[in-house]
Amino acid sequence: MTSFNLAFCQSLQAINEAKPQKHGPLHRYLGPPAPPACTKAIRRSIEWGAATAAYQIEGGWDEGGKSNSVWDVWSQTPGKVAQNQTGNTACDHYHRWREDVQLMQQLGLKHYRLSFSWPRIVPGGVAGSPANPEGLHFYKQLLSSLRAAGIAPLVTLFHWDLPQVLQDDHGGLLGEQFPEHFAYYADVVFRELGRFVSHWVTLNEPLVTCSMGYQSGVFPSGLQLGTQAFLQCGHNQLKAHAKAVQLYRQRYSRRQKGHLSLAVPGWWMIPYDASSKANRAAAARAMEFRWGWMFDPVITGDYPTAMRAHFDSQLPAFSAEGQQLLKGSVDFLGVNIYTARYVADGSENGMPWVESLTNASGAALCPDSDELCLAVAQDGVNVQGFYAWSLMDNFEWADGYRPRFGLVYVDYENGLRRLPKRSAAWMARHFFLKRQLGQW
Ligand code: BGC
Repeated sequence: MTSFNLAFCQSLQAINEAKPQKHGPLHRYLGPPAPPACTKAIRRSIEWGAATAAYQIEGGWDEGGKSNSVWDVWSQTPGKVAQNQTGNTACDHYHRWREDVQLMQQLGLKHYRLSFSWPRIVPGGVAGSPANPEGLHFYKQLLSSLRAAGIAPLVTLFHWDLPQVLQDDHGGLLGEQFPEHFAYYADVVFRELGRFVSHWVTLNEPLVTCSMGYQSGVFPSGLQLGTQAFLQCGHNQLKAHAKAVQLYRQRYSRRQKGHLSLAVPGWWMIPYDASSKANRAAAARAMEFRWGWMFDPVITGDYPTAMRAHFDSQLPAFSAEGQQLLKGSVDFLGVNIYTARYVADGSENGMPWVESLTNASGAALCPDSDELCLAVAQDGVNVQGFYAWSLMDNFEWADGYRPRFGLVYVDYENGLRRLPKRSAAWMARHFFLKRQLGQW
């Protein structure tokens, strides 16, 4: 493997979170200059984009032959999501995708991360069940239109909207056959849509689906199980990732030449007291657990030693063949990063070996673009891409529609109008390198 290099910045907080007051003058909005470390050369060297996920924007929850996802059922169950909001309509991207592609073009976007809805493509969920022509047609049209607009898609196969049937009848992410079902779905996607896509993320943030979905129970499945289930959930997802990558490399990569990875969320861990050896060791351990849980296996073929030592027999083991499959199963690293955490040794807090303390400023921002550019300029980090979360305001899972992370404001009260925020203008000018912003 030659490079590890794609950074997804998931939380470029909109410079202006408020509803844009007027439509029009944004094209004259100059805003702050580009951060000093972000020279033009560096800005040109990175593929800047924005991201979304199917359940968060599509809507069309029961249309076009789609079956229920776990998020459909969960959000439609009273009490599960803030204000009982659902993703039934979300941003209605399912119907407005043409407008959205135009919007991306206006912003000068050249790279767009989106996800496919598994229950739209394989409604039966399980390996062997038929693909849904209408679902495939939807994505074919979308991808063709992105291509025509000069926008390169990066596609996530599974961004949390598991077919409900897999949860009901097959154990969800804990099911032994989960890797087979996932690889079958991935195969359908690669075969039918792979020619449009050069970058893939198999799974988005297994840590989140496992912890929120099977430990705290705040996300579907809603089960509150113990550590062993949490670890098994991650294990199954790693096996699923490896199988899908193997299949791609065997059947498709020669023709399609795509690059694959998975996206891992995390914080950079900083010793709370850098002069303390114990704190430094705790921060290093926290890095291993947080990032290494997923990244070690896909690079080396097995879990980090510190995790093995800590969990002992609770941590599932890979077979020799499984290790071979996993080893080197990424072509880049997908890093979803928000902030850093101070780490002190000792007390227990979720992860049983460290206490993490919120950054003194309380800011939950990604390493801002200046830091990112410094990483390239000073540390020689090979950053190939940066995807701001999110292209537009959308359904923020258990928090519903209140958080607004979008570069584009979505007016939920008024026909879901899209209104680019100042952050969109700023990103467009400095990072998407769009000369003329046009009239918005
Ligand atoms: C997830 C998104 C989510 C965002 C903000 C990301 O890590 O992938 O689905 O909306 O975080 O919470």
